[in-house]
Amino acid sequence: MPWYSEEQIDEVRSRSDIVDVIGSYVKLKRSGGGYVGLCPFHSEKSPSFSVNPSMQIYKCFGCGVGGNVITFLMEYENLSFPEAMEQLAGRAGIQLPKKEMTAEQRQREGLRQTLLEINTKTARFYYAMLKSPQGKLGYDYLAGRGLSRETIVHFGLGYAGRGGGELYQYLKREGYPDSVLKETGLFKMDERGVYDKFWNRVMFPIMDVSSHVIGFGGRVMGDAKPKYLNSPETRIFDKSRNLFGLNYAKQGRRKQLILCEGYMDVIAMHQAGFTGAVASLGTAFTEQQASLLHRYTEEVLLIYDSDEAGVKAALRAIPILRQAGINGKVVRLEPYKDPDEFIRQEGAEAFAQRLEQAENSFFFEVEAGKRQFDITDPEQKTKFYHEVARKLLVFTDKVQRDNYMEAVAVRQGIRKEDLRQLVIRYGNQMPEGYQEQVRENRREKAKKEDKSEEGIRYSYRLLLSWLIETPDLFGPVRERIAPEDFLDERFGKVAAMLYEQLERGERELVATKIISCFEDAESQKMVAQMFQTNYQTEMNREEREKALNELIVRIKEYSIDKRMRNLTDMSELEALIQEKKKWQTPEKLHISLKDG
Ligand code: UTP
Ligand code: MN
Repeated sequence: MPWYSEEQIDEVRSRSDIVDVIGSYVKLKRSGGGYVGLCPFHSEKSPSFSVNPSMQIYKCFGCGVGGNVITFLMEYENLSFPEAMEQLAGRAGIQLPKKEMTAEQRQREGLRQTLLEINTKTARFYYAMLKSPQGKLGYDYLAGRGLSRETIVHFGLGYAGRGGGELYQYLKREGYPDSVLKETGLFKMDERGVYDKFWNRVMFPIMDVSSHVIGFGGRVMGDAKPKYLNSPETRIFDKSRNLFGLNYAKQGRRKQLILCEGYMDVIAMHQAGFTGAVASLGTAFTEQQASLLHRYTEEVLLIYDSDEAGVKAALRAIPILRQAGINGKVVRLEPYKDPDEFIRQEGAEAFAQRLEQAENSFFFEVEAGKRQFDITDPEQKTKFYHEVARKLLVFTDKVQRDNYMEAVAVRQGIRKEDLRQLVIRYGNQMPEGYQEQVRENRREKAKKEDKSEEGIRYSYRLLLSWLIETPDLFGPVRERIAPEDFLDERFGKVAAMLYEQLERGERELVATKIISCFEDAESQKMVAQMFQTNYQTEMNREEREKALNELIVRIKEYSIDKRMRNLTDMSELEALIQEKKKWQTPEKLHISLKDG
């Protein structure tokens, strides 16, 4: 049972401009008849996400997602279908009638809403507790760590009491059934009863980019273990797609955001004026988080803890940022452990200086790698140089790679020429990860080519059937397209035969003659179809003329591109470039059609 009628859905769709809507989330650039941008659903450096305004659809040729304006909002904003409808209707000024939901819809939709509502109430509950006499312990703890009253309010910090059941009792009084409370992740439930998950902890509400409370982190008072306890993943909390503090940090497009490890680090930095700080949520930094960051910035300063685990975490995050097209830099905090400690000891100004000194993440990787080797030993030193050369292959852009090669050679005192030789050598061998990447790229490319080949065959068929239908066109078409331009065995053969017949002035085409030249049934069927199809009847003269000319340009360009790619003799290149140029201003080659 649909919630909205087909007509209502259509109305919302047709009155929402997809370019407008998607454009408010993704930077779109005009390209041909449509728009392209970086796909918001996977990380990428070059745009493969395209929006087609005439069809009102989007499609990513990188990761395959696609749909219309409604599905876009559902995916991007994590909305249900009716929520997306409502949002779009609101935007377009359409009044949608309130419909009764089915029980199941109400349940599914309602549960998400209810969970959000419970989380909001819970955050308020913890906050009130912090302010109450019972919460003094927590408040003092936070104040003792240097947080001001404003900061505590700004982040909505709270306290979970020592009773072990206060939250549960409160939410029961609010009327929520156990079946719903179970889904919040805020309780432990077993045969013996229900207990609050968080107990004697200061509480950090975790918000999504739209400032909905989706989960909590809680820090124990003192040294007990575990130090931090986090909400489990729920229907509304996906750790891999959210970052603590991003709802504040995203405000305004910043030159850079700061990525760190801890809740307290984010809060300390915001309090000291570094409001671009966010933290991954007690888990390893993910590709989705990188792509989320990329919506708001081009550069990320990594401030992971100074210990070994922090360095490891940074080394894992760097390639993920790079892959997402984000310029990563690493901030060093030595001798302090984390940003919170640094700021408390040295103050905001000194911290700002450290941010200034952030190091290019590639050099950080090289330095970290270097520690594995004893550079005083010539053997080890050689190995290290090889390692550097291999690493340089992460840069697939040659200019960029050359620049890094020079810079790293200078820094490490390696002779540039030696390093270059090594890079060339590994470039040819291609180490594992790189090879995998190259293979992946090839697969992607092959997939794309398959698609464009289907498209081009369709064009071949159109043009040939057109010629069969209207032999008068043969003169002008022959001047532009040769049988060799049909880059498909069967079509090429049909074209050659057809051209031959038309050349001889055989106006009465004997379809069977051409059909019989093909042995397999499939080809015969294909050719037979060509003689039967009449694609042009629906169009007027102008439309036909436009279609014909576009068809010719498409076939010609495809043919030139393919020839360019398969070129063995460089001297032919110039000729092809010239030819291609000619076709890029096709007006000169325009065929005019007569009426009738
Ligand atoms: P750290 O152990 O570095 O703690 O964990 P911290 O942020 O410096 O904490 P304070 O300053 O002692 O309060 C960094 C982050 O890793 C996650 C938390 O998100 C924490 O902020 N973490 C850590 C957990 O999720 N569970 C833990 O037991 C410890
Ligand atoms: Mn800390």
